[in-house]
Amino acid sequence: MTNITIAIDGFSSTGKSTVAKLLAKALGYIYVDSGAMYRAVTFYAMQHNFIEENYLFEEALVKSLDDIFISFKHNEELGFSEVFLNNVNIEKEIRTLEVSNFVSTIAAIPEVRRKLVIQQQDMGKAKGVVMDGRDIGTVVFPYAELKIFMTASAETRAQRRFQELIDRGDEVHFEEVLDNVIKRDYIDSTREDSPLIQAEDAVLFNNSNFSIEEQFEKVLNLAKSII
Ligand code: C5P
Repeated sequence: MTNITIAIDGFSSTGKSTVAKLLAKALGYIYVDSGAMYRAVTFYAMQHNFIEENYLFEEALVKSLDDIFISFKHNEELGFSEVFLNNVNIEKEIRTLEVSNFVSTIAAIPEVRRKLVIQQQDMGKAKGVVMDGRDIGTVVFPYAELKIFMTASAETRAQRRFQELIDRGDEVHFEEVLDNVIKRDYIDSTREDSPLIQAEDAVLFNNSNFSIEEQFEKVLNLAKSII
């Protein structure tokens, strides 16, 4: 069996990470949640008051990028990796709607992208990796052997995200989650640097009517047909 690189891109809350984690586990690959890295930078910006009201002190954030160290550590109990910012576990903190509301603005900054893409390419250099995000098949690993572009209707995606937040105990309304999903998709798809687009050689997968088990089976079969 050869080790390959699997890139899973797509719109917000399409369930990319759920499928990517299952796939990585089944293949014995590492899983990298690249969105968590953009969320970590956003959390850092909030912690350091680089975001006030709705204003971002972009220059100050860019100047501080060398002070931001992002890492992942596998949590045996949970069965997946958690993200750390300067050695502090911030897995829970980065999943809030507050971070979601600002992350696409931060992810549009070229200097931020440059830093994170270098780290992502380094994490995947040994292959045997499943990475999900927005530009994995187009920018991070343009030569990935398998590229999947996931999509689903905005309502389906917002409903999944809303349920996740409610399950965590967050107080949110469906409408604000839907708004966030639509807004993030717009910013991610229209930014100048590495916009969210389907790579020419990616397999398009609309998973609106698929259960998690069915999605997993489909992507596993795609991977097995190559490996
Ligand atoms: O995957 P997740 O929804 O957690 O990603 C959060 C945000 O990070 C996205 O909406 C996007 O703005 C940004 N992102 C990105 N490129 C990636 C992964 C995430 O721009 N490869």
